[in-house]
Amino acid sequence: MTTLTVHPAKQPLVGSVPVPSDKSIGHRALLLGALCRGDSRITGFSHGEDNVSTASCLRAMGVAIAEPGPEELVVTGVGLDGLRAPDGDLDCGNSGTTMRLLCGVLAAQRFGATLVGDETLSRRPMMRVVGPLRARGAVLEGRPHATRAGEVIAPLVVGPLPQGRMLAPLEHDSPVASAQVKSAVLLSGLYAAGATRFREPTVSRDHTERMLSALGVPVRTMGSLVELDPVGWDRRMPAFDVTIPGDLSAAAFLLVAAQIVQGSRVTARGVGANPTRTGILEIARDMGAGLAVEAHGERSGEPVADLHAWSTTMHAVTIGGETVPRAIDEIPIACALAARARGTTRIRNADELRHKESDRIATMATVLRAFGVTCAEHPDGLDVEGRDGPLEPADVDSKGDHRIAMASTVLALVARGPSRVRDAACIATSYPKFVATLRALGAEVDVEP
Ligand code: S3P
Repeated sequence: MTTLTVHPAKQPLVGSVPVPSDKSIGHRALLLGALCRGDSRITGFSHGEDNVSTASCLRAMGVAIAEPGPEELVVTGVGLDGLRAPDGDLDCGNSGTTMRLLCGVLAAQRFGATLVGDETLSRRPMMRVVGPLRARGAVLEGRPHATRAGEVIAPLVVGPLPQGRMLAPLEHDSPVASAQVKSAVLLSGLYAAGATRFREPTVSRDHTERMLSALGVPVRTMGSLVELDPVGWDRRMPAFDVTIPGDLSAAAFLLVAAQIVQGSRVTARGVGANPTRTGILEIARDMGAGLAVEAHGERSGEPVADLHAWSTTMHAVTIGGETVPRAIDEIPIACALAARARGTTRIRNADELRHKESDRIATMATVLRAFGVTCAEHPDGLDVEGRDGPLEPADVDSKGDHRIAMASTVLALVARGPSRVRDAACIATSYPKFVATLRALGAEVDVEP
């Protein structure tokens, strides 16, 4: 139960830093590397615990993953049909992406496997992937949710797909914009007897489509509709080399820290700036926050930029609609901006936040109030009243949610006295060097194991 003691910033945060590589792209590089034939090289791999969970599940199914360098992996792909039955349960740890994307691959295997996760992951809804995969003939069983009728949670038992049967073509209209659901459905589509068509209310992150398309898989995107039609495709993906850009979802904590701590000037280098992920940059700009994007073209099919942030005075905005899926992991840190922006920031259409590593609407409301920020909770969002002057020192619990722990740490930098952030070990799921990086920028944070 690690606790952080975060001291109010006595000086501006200053520096230029790298950030861990993109977690979403890391999962996909590992999974697709495993399903290719031959050795794929992943450069700039982050050893965040979530990505490590995906690697260990793949190793348990017979995929060799070597680590020739500190941030380099070589995945020896076994081809679409080369995975073997694991000896035990596949442990996805805290990673929803690992569990949901693996469902898509396992749905087509001739062996069965059980996916398990930690306490937090075992509370998260899985029917969103189980439903469409069952609809195309896959065999999946979960534990019925205690209160939500029709919902299932982990452990999930997936497969085997009976001999002689193939997954059927599928048209799926997802009620939620979700890259995890989209990716699970598309990955199952690699094995299907016909086309997969997936439609979502607005576009979620598109890393899977980009990577599949680079590997020669027949994927087409038309707005929020994605189609994968394997008919006529030889069902072989070649090994690849990928360099993973920095994770904007990690960089956002540093950028916002710089935007709210007076006099700060911070650069996050080599950050992924895929337009399906840049909602937080638009929110910050709309608030008048100090931000400059220095684009550096594409790296392995993904836009990359250096992001410069500095402190200014900001004003409240309304956040909703198609921005929300493009900022889905950044809403907690957007609340920190809102706490310092003049006026009331309204966040709506964000009900998906209730199904993340914690109920991020409820947890963030508790955190904001602990810092003396007035806020109102809505079923699909929050109203946050910006506050001038220092915040109250707080004692907050992350509820095991890495993004809540990091957002709380950033808020604590502008409090009147030291604050405590409890249950902070979860930060390692996505950003093991978060505290070290904040310290390098000039913040004072003590860690009690
Ligand atoms: C992710 C998609 C998002 C995001 C998660 C990572 C991905 O989840 O919140 O952190 O890598 O596909 P949803 O697809 O459930 O919105």
